[in-house]
Amino acid sequence: MPILDNDTFLRALKREPTPCTPVWLMRQAGRYLPEYNATRAKAGSFLALAKTPSLATEVTLQPLERFALDAAILFSDILTVPDAMGLGLHFAEGEGPRFEHRTADEATIAKLAVPDMAKLGYVFDAVREIKRALKGRVPLIGFAGSPFTLACYMIEGSGSADFGAVRRMAYGRPDLLKRLVSINAKAVVSYLNEQIAAGADAVMIFDTWGGLLSAPAYRTFSLATMREVIVALNPAADGSAVPTIVFTKGGGQWLDDIAACGASAVGLDWTVDLAAARSRVGARVALQGNLDPLVLLTDPDTIRREVASVVRAAGPAPGHIFNLGHGILPTTPPDHVNVLVETVHRESRAIRAAA
Ligand code: CP3
Repeated sequence: MPILDNDTFLRALKREPTPCTPVWLMRQAGRYLPEYNATRAKAGSFLALAKTPSLATEVTLQPLERFALDAAILFSDILTVPDAMGLGLHFAEGEGPRFEHRTADEATIAKLAVPDMAKLGYVFDAVREIKRALKGRVPLIGFAGSPFTLACYMIEGSGSADFGAVRRMAYGRPDLLKRLVSINAKAVVSYLNEQIAAGADAVMIFDTWGGLLSAPAYRTFSLATMREVIVALNPAADGSAVPTIVFTKGGGQWLDDIAACGASAVGLDWTVDLAAARSRVGARVALQGNLDPLVLLTDPDTIRREVASVVRAAGPAPGHIFNLGHGILPTTPPDHVNVLVETVHRESRAIRAAA
């Protein structure tokens, strides 16, 4: 393990004791920060920003300059992988992602292949450049979408309220969806292994839409393919295992199954009872979460109260990483993030002292 100034995040992932609870926030580099908007304007677009390693490095570091965060996360997107498969990714202003080509019929899925990782070289270059710029301050998290969540965008060609076409395929043409997620799983393995080779200290799999499925369909199309990815990951350059986090939004009712998928940590959305989750699986995996991102749109006193309540629910035992239950909202006042981070560190020190 390379020497880091602050390794509380990696220790918590391994369920080792830390002086206080580490904290980072999903989408911590993003539109709620004026300096992010300035760099994005300079890049011309979100995709140009993600595809220019020096600018991706700049925005990855921006939240660390403002807040005492315990980890950095690569600035990129999960949809870089289907983009490299030739689907033609665009972000229409204010509309979210769109693909030029959908992957929704038998002929298209039959032709689909794992992309040449050279097409994603800009991501691995960004990981190397961010690691250099971090100078060992905090660990860097690499990430990918889950094979199923990538399939959701590939099939619909964009975001969707209910991903109806995907769910219809899951039940009506399970053979097609299986082929699609199994190609995605192979692509995600190569993609994460390249990020690990470039220096990522931990990797996270974002399964934003797995929670839309029935329990058996979730196990088949989402959980099984995430397990396939996790077992195929390479160790770090020094031979140590790279910690992994899986996050299925809406997956709380499958906690025991998810905790057994081989990941070091399970991400929880805000609907999950964190204290109950800790007593159920806390001896087997670390847990990450789970403040409702809307709390950051209230006021400092409410934020302190709600953050303290999550820290207390997690308790003093090792193996909790504080995060939001989903990405930070663009309307979040940056000062509120400072209140959150300070409260996590202060309250978690206090409950350890009292334990
Ligand atoms: O967390 C971080 O700071 C790292 C960067 C990161 C982004 N996207 C940057 C981004 C990460 C980890 C992601 C993951 C991602 N991307 C997910 C999984 C997590 C989740 O939020 O559920 C998904 C589903 C995507 C796909 C995606 N990318 C969507 C649906 C959108 C549009 C929604 C929105 O917020 O506008 C994006 C765009 C995107 N990815 C932005 C950022 C900062 C905003 C784009 C902009 O600056 O215009």
